[in-house]
Amino acid sequence: MPKITFLNDFSAEPNAAGEKQPKSIEVPAGTSILEAAKKIHAQVGYACGGVCACSTCHIYVKTGIRSLSPQKDKEEDILDKAFDVRATSRLGCQARILATASEDITVEISRESRKAYYDEHPDERGGAGH
Ligand code: FES
Repeated sequence: MPKITFLNDFSAEPNAAGEKQPKSIEVPAGTSILEAAKKIHAQVGYACGGVCACSTCHIYVKTGIRSLSPQKDKEEDILDKAFDVRATSRLGCQARILATASEDITVEISRESRKAYYDEHPDERGGAGH
C-alpha cells in the first residue's frame, strides 16, 4: 500500500528517540488524500465535507503525482477560487490513490487548508505542531 506523508504536519507525538516526524499513513487504492488525513488527524481542512465545493482541502503534491487520480474539470474549477494555487495543487478530497500506484506520496498542506482545519478544530489551535 502506498504511504502518504503530510510533510508540514508535525503534530504527532515524538517517536521513541524523541524526534518529531511528519504524519504519514499507508492507505489502500481508492483512498483520497483527505480520507487519509482524517484517519490520522492531519491538519487538512474540509469545510464542505469532501464534496468538491470549497477548496479548504487544498494541498501541494511534492512527490508521487503519478500515484494519484487525474484532475477533473470540477476540481479545476474549485481550485481556481483557491489561494496560492501552484502547478502541484490538488484538492485533497478529489485526489485518490490509483490501483496502479507504485510511488509513495508526499504532500504539503496549504495555509488555507490549515487555517480551515483549525477553524473546524479550535481545540487543537496552539497545540503540538502549530
Ligand atoms: S473538502 Fe471541500 S473541496 Fe475538498
